[in-house]
Amino acid sequence: MDMNDLTRQLGGGTPRIAFGADYNPEQWPRDVWKHDVELMREAKVNLVSVGIFSWALLEPEEGRYEFGWLDEVLDLLHENGIAVDLANASASPPPWFTVKYPDSAPVDADGVRQTHGSRQAFAACSPDYRRAAAALTTAIAKRYADHPALAMWHVHNEYGCHNQPDFGPHAERGFREWLRNRYESLDGLNEAWGTAFWSQHYYDWAEIMPPRRSGTHINPSHQLDFARFSSDSLLECFEAEAAILRAQSDKPVTTNFMGLNMGLARPIDYWRWAPRMDIVSNDHYLIAEDLRNHQDLALAADLTRGWADNAPWLLMEHSTSAVNWQPRNIAKAPGQMLRNSFQHLARGADGILFFQWRASRAGAEKFHSGMVPHAGRDTKVWREVVQLGKALEAASEVAGSRVAADAALVFDTDARWAAELDSHPSIEAQPTRELRDWHDALYRSGITADLRQSTDDLRAYRLVVAPMLYLVTDDGAANLRRYVEGGGTLLLTYFSGIVDEHDRIIMDPVEGGGYPGAFRDLLGVEIEEFFPLRDGEALALTAGSGERWSELGRTTTAEAVSRYERGPTAGSPAVTRNVSGAGTAYYVGTSPDAEALAAFLPRVLEDAGLEAPAHAAEFPELEVVRRTSDGTSWLFAINHGEVDARLSVDGIELISGTPTEGALTIPAGGVAVVRLA
Ligand code: GAL
Repeated sequence: MDMNDLTRQLGGGTPRIAFGADYNPEQWPRDVWKHDVELMREAKVNLVSVGIFSWALLEPEEGRYEFGWLDEVLDLLHENGIAVDLANASASPPPWFTVKYPDSAPVDADGVRQTHGSRQAFAACSPDYRRAAAALTTAIAKRYADHPALAMWHVHNEYGCHNQPDFGPHAERGFREWLRNRYESLDGLNEAWGTAFWSQHYYDWAEIMPPRRSGTHINPSHQLDFARFSSDSLLECFEAEAAILRAQSDKPVTTNFMGLNMGLARPIDYWRWAPRMDIVSNDHYLIAEDLRNHQDLALAADLTRGWADNAPWLLMEHSTSAVNWQPRNIAKAPGQMLRNSFQHLARGADGILFFQWRASRAGAEKFHSGMVPHAGRDTKVWREVVQLGKALEAASEVAGSRVAADAALVFDTDARWAAELDSHPSIEAQPTRELRDWHDALYRSGITADLRQSTDDLRAYRLVVAPMLYLVTDDGAANLRRYVEGGGTLLLTYFSGIVDEHDRIIMDPVEGGGYPGAFRDLLGVEIEEFFPLRDGEALALTAGSGERWSELGRTTTAEAVSRYERGPTAGSPAVTRNVSGAGTAYYVGTSPDAEALAAFLPRVLEDAGLEAPAHAAEFPELEVVRRTSDGTSWLFAINHGEVDARLSVDGIELISGTPTEGALTIPAGGVAVVRLA
């Protein structure tokens, strides 16, 4: 069962895009519920997530369940034709649980034990938590597996977001076990972690702790393995609960990922998690103050599509307007929510859901927008919700199609985790910012990119950009080399290919040879020393300038496309191009400004046989993406700008139902979906 089964179920056989929200009726008196379903029907809502934070109400004391209210809710939704994404409610253990099992709460790196009072206070390796979550999941699965409203299962909520990594005794035990599996012997671990440094040699597994507070920098290889372990231990929780659901029901199972949202997703390796999902689902919230937050949204959607291996995915949460947890929670401008929704759709989502249906009256999120705002129906938000429901219904035929992309960006979780560790040459070397910058360079050129891992088959892509691939495995490096030699065009940026999977410098201890150890030959360059730049400093290049980073080095077989003009690295190559086998490998040793980028990006695209479409220069605020299926193509056009945009295109515009007759105007702030003739 996958996303296609879900959209077919929603449309009674013909695919229908999912539309709805988290629905938390337990926050409201019963007589509000019937108004809820009436409004849902008005807005054409067809799927709601129920029960995500209902543990305390479903199980008032251990082993005693109260399902009456949930039965009523599910029946009511079903009578009104609204399907349910039912949670197993394991996300937030109730207060009685932490009181009864105090050691099930997580301990932070300072040794402080957390408690209930917010949400999601549990240690992933706590046997009591795992037992209680399994019992609750079993009870819910047995009761609702055959309920006609059930369309899919929602395990937990945003693992790794508000449940912080645990550094307590349960993690200590789990981490040691995980390390024994990985290294088998302490010799292997000591070698991998480089424990000869700072007298860290381990003689007994019992000496190894989670990386709790210590005097200064903790061994980075130790930190990296702890990140992997923390992700794996939450994945064990997911798998145990998913297995219980799957034993009772054939409906698809998911848990909502949280993309790149402001770096919060750090504890989870979604590439490892995604294959265990029947449907990949993601939550995305705009960074309200970021004026290019639509490009950040595009990146998050592209990344989610990568996790889904290019299959359709589900946007589980976004907001109709403001959120409550940023420093300044700027509300969405008129039309912005519709554009956001169609961006996700354009980039492969087959469902657009929100957090949450009704804005809460009490609690920490009462200033978070919902589909039904505090001010009710006569509002911008409600009118746009109704408009969106209609537009999604009109665009239903795109469900099941796939996004067409000629380029890929490589983004490995291990490389990100390792690059974000401390004691590095510069805090400016930030992998997610670098990823975003290169995604933006392609976005501005009108080129859609998929997100992939270094070890994936990349042969279908004309261009592969690997921004700050700091850590790379032997397999990843060999795969990229094969890609280039087979005719591909690869662009690598600074601080890539520096360390192996254990965060040890890739080098020959006798010969040396310079950075980047994994890619020196492929790139035809040798870097001898990093020269990170000062805050705000820009270093002149042959064309434009570079920021954040520079390097002292030389080309071996590569051609220098541009060089540093002054300073200690004057004359060193900044951008290089090397022909290798049938392909080409570029290296960019700095963060190029717009002028520098403009000086070489067209050449990269030309090597790759790609061309920036005309609209990219003509209407820089117009986002155009294509989805295809069995010979049919749909063109999505989203106008983020303040001037109308015009495209030459022949087909039927689905939202208005009108033929384009050769040309389409996308009004300022508007969206269009055209089935191409
Ligand atoms: C998500 C979470 C929701 C809600 C939302 C608010 O991270 O899954 O439960 O808190 O944020 O933006």
